[in-house]
Amino acid sequence: MGRNLTDAERERRVLALYEQLLEIEGRLIPTGLHVFGRRGGTGERADLLRLVASFDRPERGLRALPELIAAGLGLPAYQTLLTESAASERRLAERERVEGLARAATAEFLAAGAERAAALLAAAAGVPAAESGKVFALMLEVERGLEGSDELGALARALRGEYVEPGPGADIVQNPEILPTGRNTYAVNPYHIPSPAAFARAEPMVAALLERHRREAGHYPETMAMVLWGLDNIKTQGDGVAQALWLMGARPRRDNLNRATEVEIIPPERLGRPRIDVVLTVSGIFRDLFGATMELLDKAVRRVAALDEPGELNCLRRHVLEQIGEGASFDEAATRVFSNAAGNYGTNVNFMVMDGQWEEARALGELFVTRKCFAYGRDATGRRLEGREAPALMGRALARVEATYQNIDTAEIGITDVDHYFEYLGGVSRAVETRAGARPRIYLGDALAPGAKVRTLEETVRLETRTKTLNPKWYEGMLRHGFRGVAEIEHHVTNTFGWSATADAVDDWIYDDVARTYVLDETMLGRLRVLNPDSTRSLVGRLLEAAGRGLWAAEAGVLERLRETYAGLEDELEGVTA
Ligand code: BEZ
Ligand code: MG
Repeated sequence: MGRNLTDAERERRVLALYEQLLEIEGRLIPTGLHVFGRRGGTGERADLLRLVASFDRPERGLRALPELIAAGLGLPAYQTLLTESAASERRLAERERVEGLARAATAEFLAAGAERAAALLAAAAGVPAAESGKVFALMLEVERGLEGSDELGALARALRGEYVEPGPGADIVQNPEILPTGRNTYAVNPYHIPSPAAFARAEPMVAALLERHRREAGHYPETMAMVLWGLDNIKTQGDGVAQALWLMGARPRRDNLNRATEVEIIPPERLGRPRIDVVLTVSGIFRDLFGATMELLDKAVRRVAALDEPGELNCLRRHVLEQIGEGASFDEAATRVFSNAAGNYGTNVNFMVMDGQWEEARALGELFVTRKCFAYGRDATGRRLEGREAPALMGRALARVEATYQNIDTAEIGITDVDHYFEYLGGVSRAVETRAGARPRIYLGDALAPGAKVRTLEETVRLETRTKTLNPKWYEGMLRHGFRGVAEIEHHVTNTFGWSATADAVDDWIYDDVARTYVLDETMLGRLRVLNPDSTRSLVGRLLEAAGRGLWAAEAGVLERLRETYAGLEDELEGVTA
């Protein structure tokens, strides 16, 4: 590489690299676990306020702070700077200028208050105080909400059987109204899902997703599998549901009680692309909370499949007709909403991975289908399916999938923080691979990044690894929690391994660097061992498992050190002395 690059190409690569560094630098990460009843330090609050201020909030007539600054400076929109900064040094400098001022204004707000911060922006960027004042008023609300949170007091009241004030459940960035915390979280009215705001947000995300696929594969995906979770759709008021509708080209229609119970077809001219066939794999929590929404999605599938449109504009209809040609009924051919059997939850793929019970990777996909092959919706006569076991129908639908997708909606829980992302998105991807004969492209939508940001799974694993697992700011934050912190680090390594097991999505350098950081570094290994020898042994064992299963091409010398360390930890835990 490098020898044949022109100056312009070299320039572009350097810019693209710099852009990735900015992305890593700007990422909000938890720096330690939440301690019940305790609020974060000034640095964390500044990061949080900046992120809260970086979104337009039309419901408050408020524009994102970076947009106000860009406009004040007479620059193109901040969204444009973001898009163009990867290929233009000038745009990059402008973007950094905007971000620097947003940072300075937030610091001024925390140090000297809203008026001084507004004055700073008026002087430095010509932002009218009337505009920035709305943003600082929101920041002030967030600050007061954080201060006014009484988690311990509320817990004590709850334990005494006393009244605890209710409040919405969401992410602070998504919905600052969740503050103060320590309230009795209420969820959602399923008939309001998806909200008009969620439906509007979903259009650019779906466009970015389809465009990314088209760029990489040369065409739109004919069929996608989507994972829908309950808590996410509560927090976002139905982002995932809205995206599924957009993919098919349908919008929710409200009845005269303002309930989203009907769908309306978006005309092909408005869509400007084919209708995508979507297989929906839905969590048990979603099924319990969003029965009405599952029916809405099923209704959309049936309506779109029945449209009189040419096959190249309506992939869903074409696939349903093909299946009918093979002898299926319309009901069978149009089954797209799957979840667990009634009363069951989860895929168990995470347990199979964590316990190392699998021989071949396909077993993980088979387990996913066994757990998730229960069909929901209504048949042609309007009869409810209520979770009818349908592994063959699900298998046929998955066999056509070219891409799988899920949303990430909070900075606090990413794809290596918990085992649920790999059990769902990894599990369905492995099931697709077996049935379609090719690994699907796997994407994640990031609602927290500015703009509609879609990343591949591999990019997301790298980003999480850089910003969390291998980031001293993150792991030192965890280690301050002692025993529990080491367990968190071990979970991250195991969850990363889950992406190898289900989707072959982990680069060798990730395991190399995990081994180097936590095991080959004697001082670090010593700290982990003292704090939590059990989790330390599991972490080392997981690295050995990755190498043993051929998922990590480790150097022989490194493996030797890992084996010795593992044996030493075993002896220590079993009380064997040399
Ligand atoms: C859900 O919200 O549906 C969900 C939460 C955790 C794990 C799996 C699903
Ligand atoms: Mg590999």
